[in-house]
Formats: sequence, C-alpha cells, structure tokens
Amino acid sequence: MLRGNIELWLAFVTCILIGAGYGLVVLWTREIPAAGEFFGHTLGIIGFILMLMTETLYSIRKRSRSAALGRMSTWLKFHIYMGLVGPFMVLLHSSWKFNGLAGATTLLTAIIVFSGFIGRYIFTRIPRTLDGLEIEGTLSQEALKRARQMMSLWHTVHIPIGIALFISAFVHLGGALYYATFLH
Ligand code: HEM
Ligand code: HEM
Repeated sequence: MLRGNIELWLAFVTCILIGAGYGLVVLWTREIPAAGEFFGHTLGIIGFILMLMTETLYSIRKRSRSAALGRMSTWLKFHIYMGLVGPFMVLLHSSWKFNGLAGATTLLTAIIVFSGFIGRYIFTRIPRTLDGLEIEGTLSQEALKRARQMMSLWHTVHIPIGIALFISAFVHLGGALYYATFLH
C-alpha cells in the first residue's frame, strides 16, 4: 500500500513538517503570519513555484516521448507530490483570509487538487506499462474504452481549470506585489 501510494505519503509527511514549522512561527510570534510579510510571502512564492512546476513539467515530459528523461510514472508521482505540497504552502500563505481575486485563486487551487484525485482514480483504471504506455487487451475492450472516454472528459475539465487558476494567480501576484509590497 505504501509503495503504490508513495507520492501521497511523502506529500503528507512534507505537509506535516511544513505545518509544524508554521505552528512554531505562530507560537513564537503569537500571530498568524501575514501573507505579505517575510514568512507568509516565502510560503506563497515557493508554493506557487511548485504549482507552476506541477502545471508544466509532467506535460513537457509526456510530449517529449524520450525515455532518457525518466519514466512517465515517476514524473506523474512528482506531479502529484508537487501538486499537493505547493497548494498546501499557498494555503498557509493566505493567512486564512479569502477576499476577492486571491480568494477565488485559492478556490480554483482547491478545485484542481480535488479534480486531480478524481483523475488519478480514473487513471489507475487504465492498465499501463511502467513507462506509462497503455496496455491493450488486459481489460475487456468495452471497459477500457469507457475508462479512456472518462479520462478524456476529465482532461477537458481539468486543463481549463488549471489555465484559469494560473491567469488569476498571475493577476493576484502582480496586484499584490504592486499594492502590498512595492508601494510600502
Ligand atoms: C496560487 C498562488 C497563490 C494564492 C492562491 C494566493 C492567495 C492569497 C490569499 C488568499 C491572500 C490573502 C488575501 C486577503 O487578505 O484577503 C494573499 C495575499 C497576498 N499574496 Fe498571495 N497567493 C498566491 C501566490 C502569491 C505569490 C506567488 C505572491 C508573491 C510573489 C503572493 C503575494 C501576496 C501578497 C503580497 C499578499 C498580501 C496582500 C495584502 O496584504 O493585501 N501571492 N494571497
Ligand atoms: C497545483 C495542482 C495541479 C495542477 C496545476 C495540475 C495540472 C495538471 C495538468 C495541466 C495536467 C495535464 C497534463 C497533460 O496531459 O499534459 C494534469 C494531469 C494529471 N494530474 Fe494534475 N495538477 C495538479 C494537481 C494534481 C493532483 C493533486 C493530482 C492527484 C492527486 C493530479 C493528478 C493528475 C493526473 C492523474 C493527471 C493525468 C495524467 C495523464 O493523463 O497523463 N494532479 N494535471
């Protein structure tokens, strides 16, 4: 069980450690770290970089088709790991206030993570080699066809949500940096 879900366990442990660090900062300073100050800002920036890597790296590997870059299954594990740790850091960055565009960006982030779990569930229904190539004939053709259709339907929902998320994140980032950081 641990081996099959290693990326989920590692993400869980990483989030616990980051959460513990956050807890120590709260105890030390006796306040919630503000999103625009050093600690909260750092969480937002690192979390956002991880999310950008989640959005791009797996897709680049998927399209390159070069085995020299490593197994697709490993890249998907990284995708999931970064796709959980990044949003968790961004959540701690929010200082638990979800107004306006920044709040909407957080909501889109939560939706894409949730949608990721659904995609992962459907994805595991389609038998593949370790390199991520689909295996024909292991399932009945009818079941395989249905799983493929569901996966492609899932892609048509998941990808636009990701695009909307990054557009709103970049607008938030520009606005927050301009008004809350550079004008101070
Ligand atoms: C997907 C990524 C991100 C999400 C979901 C997010 C979300 C949020 C949320 C919910 C807030 C609190 C808004 C409020 O006070 O109501 C906030 C504030 C802030 N964020 Fe982000 N953030 C993200 C990335 C970033 C990045 C990368 C930066 C900087 C480079 C950044 C800079 C700031 C700043 C400076 C504030 C404070 C604004 C103020 O004090 O008015 N954020 N963010
Ligand atoms: C910041 C969060 C995330 C973003 C921005 C994101 C973005 C994406 C994108 C753009 C794709 C399409 C890749 C392609 O076909 O080119 C994708 C695929 C996928 N994602 Fe995520 N994702 C995130 C989190 C997650 C999480 C948390 C999971 C699982 C728990 C997950 C599971 C998957 C799966 C299974 C696929 C399909 C792989 C395939 O069809 O080859 N994602 N994601």
